[in-house]
Amino acid sequence: MKKLWWHDKVAYQIYPKSFCDSNGDGIGDLPGIISKLDYLKSLGVDIIWLSPIYVSPLADQGYDIADYYNIDPRFGTMEDMDELLEQAKKRDMYVVMDLVVNHCSDEHEWFRKACEDPDGKYGKFFYIETAKDGKRPYNWRSYFGGPAWEKLPGHEDKYYMHLFHRKQPDLNWENPECREEIYRMINWWLDKGLAGFRIDAIINIKKALPLHDYPVDREDGLSDVHNMLHEAVGVGDFLTELRDRTFRPHDAFTVGEVFDEKPGELPQFIGEDGYFSSMYDFAPTIFGFSREGWHKSEEITPDDYRNCVFKTQQKVKDVGFISNIIENHDEPRGVSRYIPEGECDSSSKKMLATVYFLLKGLPWIYQGQEIGMENVPIGTIQEVDDISARYMYQVALEDGLSEKEALTAIQKFSRDNARTPFQWSAKAQAGFTTGTPWLNVNPNYKEINLEEQLADPDSVFHYYQRLAALRKDPEYKETLVYGELIPYLEDTHNVMAYYRKGEDQTILVMANYQKEGRELALPAACKKVLLNNLADTKMNDASIWLEGYQAVVLLL
Ligand code: GLC
Ligand code: CA
Repeated sequence: MKKLWWHDKVAYQIYPKSFCDSNGDGIGDLPGIISKLDYLKSLGVDIIWLSPIYVSPLADQGYDIADYYNIDPRFGTMEDMDELLEQAKKRDMYVVMDLVVNHCSDEHEWFRKACEDPDGKYGKFFYIETAKDGKRPYNWRSYFGGPAWEKLPGHEDKYYMHLFHRKQPDLNWENPECREEIYRMINWWLDKGLAGFRIDAIINIKKALPLHDYPVDREDGLSDVHNMLHEAVGVGDFLTELRDRTFRPHDAFTVGEVFDEKPGELPQFIGEDGYFSSMYDFAPTIFGFSREGWHKSEEITPDDYRNCVFKTQQKVKDVGFISNIIENHDEPRGVSRYIPEGECDSSSKKMLATVYFLLKGLPWIYQGQEIGMENVPIGTIQEVDDISARYMYQVALEDGLSEKEALTAIQKFSRDNARTPFQWSAKAQAGFTTGTPWLNVNPNYKEINLEEQLADPDSVFHYYQRLAALRKDPEYKETLVYGELIPYLEDTHNVMAYYRKGEDQTILVMANYQKEGRELALPAACKKVLLNNLADTKMNDASIWLEGYQAVVLLL
């Protein structure tokens, strides 16, 4: 594999709205982020991805962009952005922004002009169709619920397409003029000094043409939008052009949010000549997921988690460099999802950190993960901000669940879980703001917060710091970054273990993914314990005793 500058780095996702508020308006902002760069550096972070901070009505928290060339005043100014780039550079850190180009906001100038003149230049930037028998042209269901076709404001007989929220009209990638505008914007940002982009919802840019109806799959008379997407072919042509016109000339670092690439397409996405530098491994994220609603989703067990991750590792092998996560702004907290209920504590959190962070690929930390932030309890549906959780609540009710059951169902997956403010300290509002936060802080901030963890050498935070340092240690780096991943004790229940094999070095990562202690065989004598999430390791040359949720990294 060709070695690239970002392979040995550690990446971190910031959800700006909830990271750090500098002016007391309850919304995190760019000056807040700048004030925490030294903190991130001390954790071992090199690459920072910012969720969208462009001008936006925030119908989908910034994933609905009204002006790609400006910063939303709630997040700061362009001067703040320039300052962030400069301050990051001073610290050898790289800034990556979110690239949201499947859709824009219905408040974007392009869409406004499209409404004024649907047959004019900007009408062709979107998918606009005439009503069929006075009704919606097609029966697709949008990701956030309800039809994916909505009346075009000011036109009784016309509809526009939105795969996501109705305030997120889809851009028409079939139109070369529209693509040109997108490339111009991307190049403008890259010229400014961005390292690259995380690329939002990108698989959706290709629609199955000609557009048509799909089989109805629920009582609402609509059809899941995936039915259309599965049929779409040719996204690669768009992605090749996108890469060649923007990323490649800038040597940009790019990570795709790719959920359903078709079998065998991986090399085209992240191979040596791929569309992107990397993409996320969502295999554990989507495990057990039901298209019929969150309330129908299956639990994920430790064995399922391991199997998902190993399957991806197998698939990616020498093809490319995957991005490993346990959570992001769309997902529950990793510790709440991947650690069995009632067993989430500082040992199990560190164990989970160990097994995912040392996989082959680029490790990403989502804000708050490094202190072990957990899902947030929900009292009533009124407290929920996340539009997809509100929709899934309705789906559960319509399926006959009681309000209480529906709430329990969405509690596990609500995107609010990851979006509560960062817990900096035990002070009011977790030290996130001096005002009223836009989303309630998790009530557990008195027990889980950075200030206390900084003072405790055994904290989850310090453990993440050690993991990052280990992956960068010149002694082991080559093996931990490029060494082959080979599963160990793959069929043993509640064990997650793997070798990282370098040219002349073998490291073994071993975790006891359960609360009961147990003895496990060692394949060879251990020369040195590189990391241990508990105080002791009891072993001889042939076996090791692991306590519940113990994880060790051994040099063999
Ligand atoms: C991606 C984003 C998510 C957003 C959606 C629409 O999945 O991560 O937050 O709602 O795209 O832009
Ligand atoms: Ca603010």
